[in-house]
Amino acid sequence: MGAWILELVSLLLLTMLQGGSSINCYTCSSVNGSSPSCEDPFHPAMSNYTEKCMVPKKGHTGVFPANFCIKIVGENTEVKERMVIRACVMKTMDSQCGVFRYQDSTMTGCILTCDFDGCNSAPHHHNPLAGTGLLLTAIAIANFNALPALLKWIQS
Ligand SMILES: *[C@@H]1O[C@H](CO)[C@@H](O)[C@H](O)[C@H]1NC(C)=O
Ligand SMILES: *[C@@H]1O[C@H](CO)[C@@H](O)[C@H](O)[C@H]1NC(C)=O
Repeated sequence: MGAWILELVSLLLLTMLQGGSSINCYTCSSVNGSSPSCEDPFHPAMSNYTEKCMVPKKGHTGVFPANFCIKIVGENTEVKERMVIRACVMKTMDSQCGVFRYQDSTMTGCILTCDFDGCNSAPHHHNPLAGTGLLLTAIAIANFNALPALLKWIQS
């Protein structure tokens, strides 16, 4: 009985401690279907799973523990490029569909933010707000663990 309680307490403590540490997320990106294993249906076994995901923070050097996983499925409205991004971020961006800014591009699509290990393997997230043209302007670029190739693509 005593041992059981001790175990429970240490489990709780461990959970609390882990709450302050970083999350594990799938990290990949696909442009126009360039990386089929990153697209839906998702194949976790063929993708990168980043444990204790770290991300850069605006105005700071180094990397910091991420707390959320993100999945973006959208189309760049200017160049009509379809992208799927799975990454980790420090702050939640909620989950919604509509029009949003991603770096310097206007995108239409859906963002899914979630907070448990590996949660961004989820299939396409349908949201009742889809199509209402929500403008999400506050997306913090620096919080993305964006892949260099993707950055290059967006900045070009
Ligand atoms: C996984 O990550 C490595 C190193 O960043 C990269 O070279 C590789 O292409 C990635 N694989 C996938 C499936 O994204
Ligand atoms: C993606 O597809 C669009 C529309 O077909 C095309 O204009 C664009 O150049 C493509 N981009 C890449 C990186 O393949």
